[in-house]
Amino acid sequence: MISSDAELMEKSLIAGANAGVELRFALFDKFFAAWPERRSDFLNLDAASRRMTDETLEMMMGLARGEEQWVWPLVAELAFTHRNFGQLPWVEYESWIALTIETVAEAAGTDWNSETEAAWIRQGDRLKAFIAEARTGWDDVMPGHVAGRISPR
Ligand code: HEM
Repeated sequence: MISSDAELMEKSLIAGANAGVELRFALFDKFFAAWPERRSDFLNLDAASRRMTDETLEMMMGLARGEEQWVWPLVAELAFTHRNFGQLPWVEYESWIALTIETVAEAAGTDWNSETEAAWIRQGDRLKAFIAEARTGWDDVMPGHVAGRISPR
């Protein structure tokens, strides 16, 4: 039987959960190891790490399930709120999504295989395309927006 991306991805998440792994700890360790200067942007790491991890996974699962109708508005909101940190380099988004997949892989242990990896990468690529489109959309409608400035100049 051929499993869908959603089935493969869900299975790996359940394996990690059954192993008692809280993904956000390893994920943020990896993220700050890669981008140490970002640490100071996280004023409430406990709160943000829960939401940032959960929403990234939810978005990829939503895309795998064909539920673009709620994923798109969430991505649009994410692209907007993250403008508070300036124009985040695109490579940091790519890195975040790659590290998310790496963290799920490590937590899933033997429930991870090449099909599972291909499913996550496929949906991660779709999420990146959504984020890129949302960022461009905000830049088009609010070109002068810079963090901390109330009105565009
Ligand atoms: C799929 C990608 C991402 C998703 C879904 C996501 C989601 C979130 C969410 C839900 C929050 C919490 C907002 C709140 O509590 O008000 C957050 C906070 C934050 N995110 Fe992301 N994020 C993503 C990528 C990134 C990347 C690449 C960076 C790069 C630095 C970043 C930096 C931050 C910062 C600095 C905060 C605020 C932390 C704080 O105030 O303590 N995020 N993110």
